[in-house]
Amino acid sequence: MITLKSSHEIELMRRAGKITAAARAFAGEMVRPGVTTLEIDKAVEHFIRKHGAVPSFLHYNGYPASACISVNDEIIHGIPGKRVLQEGDIVSIDVGAYIGGFHGDCAATFACGTISPEAQDLIDVTRQSFFEGIRFAKEGHRLGDVSAAIQNYVESHGYSIVREYVGHGVGAKMHESPEIPNFGHPGRGPRLLRGMTLAIEPMVNAGSAEIQQMSDGWTVKTLDGKWAAHYENTVLITDGEPEILTAPAI
Ligand code: MF3
Ligand code: CO
Repeated sequence: MITLKSSHEIELMRRAGKITAAARAFAGEMVRPGVTTLEIDKAVEHFIRKHGAVPSFLHYNGYPASACISVNDEIIHGIPGKRVLQEGDIVSIDVGAYIGGFHGDCAATFACGTISPEAQDLIDVTRQSFFEGIRFAKEGHRLGDVSAAIQNYVESHGYSIVREYVGHGVGAKMHESPEIPNFGHPGRGPRLLRGMTLAIEPMVNAGSAEIQQMSDGWTVKTLDGKWAAHYENTVLITDGEPEILTAPAI
């Protein structure tokens, strides 16, 4: 069952989304050579709490931190720790904030200092694939229209879509129905209706689509060691243009 949010619930989700987007931007500002991923995580936790919210990820299924920070060949769910960021790294930061009974969820990949043109292209294509997808995120379309648009854009640039992890509905729970694959077929899947709130989150590998799970139980890396990027926003379906609830302030 896909929940439809009332206008009051949407108001609450806007508030959660704003704080989450601000936390992502704040985390991105901290990305520079010499900083540790744990320093970013601690600052993000403080930022979220200062705004009266609670980090959605902390203790979720035993997850030990407030942000997921995934560097270079790490795709998602990197656990913040002693790792020191280096010039040229690409750093995927995923954050969630819970306030007023609702979650916001968003992610982006940031450059650490000067990065290679290849790495920048991977980041740009991943981000743009989200925007290609949400062209179809409106009433009258089906979820497969969104998924297929993301897949086509990514694969036409020579990159691969991660298949084992997908986007999801989001609201009172961080993970709600439906699952939102970043691959699929137009005209398939559930019909989109106003009031749905969806976390759409392409995970893109520069090389092959295959992944490997690390022994920490969380970190997911590319199998071939090539780099990966991630981009996510919480989106409200309307009868017109989608509303990005975790839109960057600028
Ligand atoms: N934003 C991610 C997701 O949508 C991260 C949650 S994983 C967590 O699934 F366990 F760390 F919370
Ligand atoms: Co998510």
